[in-house]
Amino acid sequence: MIIKDNLLAKQILEEGKLVAIPTETVYGLAANAFDGKAVAAIYQVKNRPQFNPLIIHSNSLKRFEEWGIFLPKEALLLAEKFSPGPITFVVKKSSKVPDIVSAGHDTVAIRIPNHAKTLSLLESLDFPLAAPSANLSGTVSPTTAEDVETQLGYAIAAVLDGGNCHVGLESTIISFAEGRPKLLRLGGLSLEKIEHVLNQTLDKTMLINNENPQAPGMLSRHYAPKTPLYIDAAVNHLKEAQYNEMAFIGFSQKHPKILGSNQIILSPKGDYAEAAQNLFAAIRKADALQMKLIIAELLPEENLGLAINDRLKRAAVK
Ligand code: TXA
Ligand code: MG
Repeated sequence: MIIKDNLLAKQILEEGKLVAIPTETVYGLAANAFDGKAVAAIYQVKNRPQFNPLIIHSNSLKRFEEWGIFLPKEALLLAEKFSPGPITFVVKKSSKVPDIVSAGHDTVAIRIPNHAKTLSLLESLDFPLAAPSANLSGTVSPTTAEDVETQLGYAIAAVLDGGNCHVGLESTIISFAEGRPKLLRLGGLSLEKIEHVLNQTLDKTMLINNENPQAPGMLSRHYAPKTPLYIDAAVNHLKEAQYNEMAFIGFSQKHPKILGSNQIILSPKGDYAEAAQNLFAAIRKADALQMKLIIAELLPEENLGLAINDRLKRAAVK
């Protein structure tokens, strides 16, 4: 059921049930983070492995502090600049946070999402919301209320409609668990902006290692459409005949050989933020064309191009 009313969302959440909520990045599947039973339902509905911890969301740092969760100095610097926004901080956990939220780790991921409706919902609640992206584990993240309703509507109490997500990529995750900040996931806030504020380059060793249990969500196959998706290098090896059987996802320009109606261009003006905003919808749309395969073009490795490429590579067949 798609709803518009925050008050109703609040009531449902207070009953320990699940509500999908809008954020600026993607829709989240939310439950009371302090209610272990409610959080267990998130894992069940998403079919998410129990070892993959969740991000908890609230509307201010002050509230996290009241719950015993504190940011170290460098994280505060970033929060001052970018929160509310598409950045998540992994910090020391407090005893208030049930183990199921952090999947047994002694750290917890926290985020202040930048979405007016959800901020006022969070403010009205006495607890933070645990919320992974509101999709079945391993599939493309939702950027509209309808996306969520289509995939999970049958299993959850409500989807709070907050329009299209304007960032379109999940948050950038940085761990402050061990002193020097480590990048765990590329996302909606560019690395360049973060490194500029910290005045240092981030440790990225945790990012590449897909099997690392500290960032279990970074599994190598993720965001997978049903149609096999390949990265553009493959396109040069194709025969003329095959061009009619494929969909194309490109950055700013159409591919000269592929059928125009089968092409989805992320940003005709070559704007990274616009491309990010359109990415997940583009993967869904390409999939819906039901071609034999999808070819996706990688973006330049800078700015949000890095995070977009990360998602495309994970969506690709290995
Ligand atoms: O933009 C976002 O971050 C969205 C919206 C809804 O806020 N949420 C989201 O959640 O993308 P999810 O569950 O799809 O991804 C969360 C990632 C996972 O890769 C998980 O492994 C990692 O955060 N994570 C959560 N807690 C962690 C922790 N304590 N240590 C390391 N990684 C953690
Ligand atoms: Mg996810």
